[in-house]
Amino acid sequence: MQYKAIKLVKRPGLTITPDLFETVTLETPALADGQVLLKQTHMSLDPAMKGWMTDDRNSYIPPVELGDIMRSSGVAEVVESKHDDFEVGDRVVGMIGWTEYAVSNGQGLNKLPPGISAEAVLCVLSLPGLTAYQGLMVIGKPQAGETLVVSGAAGSVGCMVGQLAKAEGLTVVGTAGSDEKCRWLEDELGFDKAINYKSDDLAAQINDATPQGVDLYFENTGGPVQHIVFNRMNAHGRIIVCGMIADYNKATPSPGPSWVNIIRRRLTITGFTMPDHWDQVPEMMQKLAAYLAAGKLKYRAHKLQGLESAIEGINLLFTGGNIGKLMVEL
Ligand SMILES: NC(=O)c1ccc[n+]([C@@H]2O[C@H](COP(=O)([O-])OP(=O)(O)OC[C@H]3O[C@@H](n4cnc5c(N)ncnc54)[C@H](OP(=O)(O)O)[C@@H]3O)[C@@H](O)[C@H]2O)c1
Repeated sequence: MQYKAIKLVKRPGLTITPDLFETVTLETPALADGQVLLKQTHMSLDPAMKGWMTDDRNSYIPPVELGDIMRSSGVAEVVESKHDDFEVGDRVVGMIGWTEYAVSNGQGLNKLPPGISAEAVLCVLSLPGLTAYQGLMVIGKPQAGETLVVSGAAGSVGCMVGQLAKAEGLTVVGTAGSDEKCRWLEDELGFDKAINYKSDDLAAQINDATPQGVDLYFENTGGPVQHIVFNRMNAHGRIIVCGMIADYNKATPSPGPSWVNIIRRRLTITGFTMPDHWDQVPEMMQKLAAYLAAGKLKYRAHKLQGLESAIEGINLLFTGGNIGKLMVEL
């Protein structure tokens, strides 16, 4: 059977452009013992992919080699199996890549329980929810009554962070790039306050929304919010550095705030990436599933259609054009 896949054939400059990719038509191979054939149904698009495309050999994960199928996670159905642990019809989540079909030896695949939608998996039970859980709950150690600010709050990680923090009894303030996103955060997700970071009076709005100062800052973006919140941090505050998307398409990253407040306020600033924590994924997935079942985590999927929509669509992450978790339905 023929299928399409997309290879990375060039390294990006400042932005991701269509000439970085080549769509190829491949033939599904005959399976060897211990292999499964997967038909991908939903493919995740993530800001980290920009980093995976660059030739940075000193990062937390090796780059995608030129000529290889672009790396991504996704949900797939087993359509053929010569593997003892997988049956035809099983649904799995794993690193499948920009491809309609893939052959796997089962390594890194997690079977999905029946009845859970692919959207719920990609929005909650995989990278966004896991990242939010690891960053907020494991690193941030939130306490009821504390105040949390999360940047990129309407994004896939940010909206999970805010909801988990609300479930734990915190006051939650989010920043996002449009009034529509802010309304969604306040009206549907229960954020105490959502602020459009493109407003002229951003500092005044953040100050007003955090009268008790800020105990936890979950950093997804960098940019002006970072400087303002840094100056609002309370003594022994924790800053969880998850992402800096405002810098991903810049030749020179923006300067950060002065370190003086790290001393004065005795702050703890921790960067983390999920690949360091894959061994804890099954346990974290169970915890997230419990929040989901209790109705404490709502999600929104922003779905593009067809494999090749990824090529242009990935840039929605950098323009703020996505509302909710960006994914491709195949
Ligand atoms: N450490 C980890 O293991 C890990 C794992 C997953 C994700 N991340 C990081 O977490 C962050 C969020 O990722 P995500 O997957 O949840 O993506 P996302 O938030 O769903 O999408 C990216 C969002 O970033 C915002 N953005 C783009 N450019 C911006 C800028 N210059 N200033 C401020 N905001 C900007 C846009 O929303 P607006 O409309 O609000 O601007 C856009 O919708 C990223 O930095 C990502 O790299 C880290």
